Amino acid sequence: MEIIKSAKQMQEISLSLRKLNDTVGFVPTMGYLHKGHVSLIENAKKDCSKVILSIFVNPTQFGDGEDYEKYPKDFDRDKKLAMAAGADYIFTPLVEEIYPAGFKASVKVRELDSVMCGSFRPGHFEGVCTVVAKFFNITLPHRAYFGLKDYQQYLIIKKMVADLNFPLRIVGCPIIREDDGVAMSSRNKYLSESERKNAVILVESIKLAASLIKNGFTNLEHIRDTVLEKFYSTPFVSKVEYFDFRDSETLEGISSINKHDFKGSGSDLLIACAVRIGSTRLIDNMIFDVSAII
Ligand code: PAF
Repeated sequence: MEIIKSAKQMQEISLSLRKLNDTVGFVPTMGYLHKGHVSLIENAKKDCSKVILSIFVNPTQFGDGEDYEKYPKDFDRDKKLAMAAGADYIFTPLVEEIYPAGFKASVKVRELDSVMCGSFRPGHFEGVCTVVAKFFNITLPHRAYFGLKDYQQYLIIKKMVADLNFPLRIVGCPIIREDDGVAMSSRNKYLSESERKNAVILVESIKLAASLIKNGFTNLEHIRDTVLEKFYSTPFVSKVEYFDFRDSETLEGISSINKHDFKGSGSDLLIACAVRIGSTRLIDNMIFDVSAII
């Protein structure tokens, strides 16, 4: 496995891999790898002959007061995990390489970026799209792998790729969960032991909402109220930013369940939330085929 810091060198390598008829898989990350990232690399390795992993904590996707400065890092551990999972290259540029003085470009996917996480983290998805677009141009992948825990990010990147004609395929990979159901995240490291125990409330609330729908409740506003009560009676829950019911393709909000709205629409029901446990912001989601659950 090679470690590459220069964008130019990475692009030259990718060009020569393509000339050699290699299939290039790309896994973008901010490092501090966990089993979720490892599964992305493993999925990429199954489909592609060469896998490039990027490790870059992207400053432009963090807002004021967010955790850019303290984002966890452990490059030696990341290297071992990446190699064991099958990565061939780690692209880990410096911030000055990606954003040289005078950098002015940006990529924005309108509308999809203004709900859910987008309304609490203004500018976040523009930062994500800009760096991912840049990395696609540097790594020139045939396929790029994104975890579905960041479902809104996955949808926005897919839209960016379609709208801007990037010649590559976006592959969404399932959320990897701990034994108690908590979604794997680099930010779980910030949680104290008691906060970590209570973080299970995110996945449990989503399951509770789904079971209420399954049991015939159709008014999603009422279901949200029930779920919010449960959240706010859980120790360490300091804020529920959102607990949303949305169309899984358009991210339009849904206020009541009607089987016929989903039948044949190609869309499913997304239940997604962002919650602060202590001062740590966690997200989670699940997607349900409405015609199968009611
Ligand atoms: O999902 C992430 O870790 C980041 O948003 C990404 C895609 C690596 C862009 O910085």
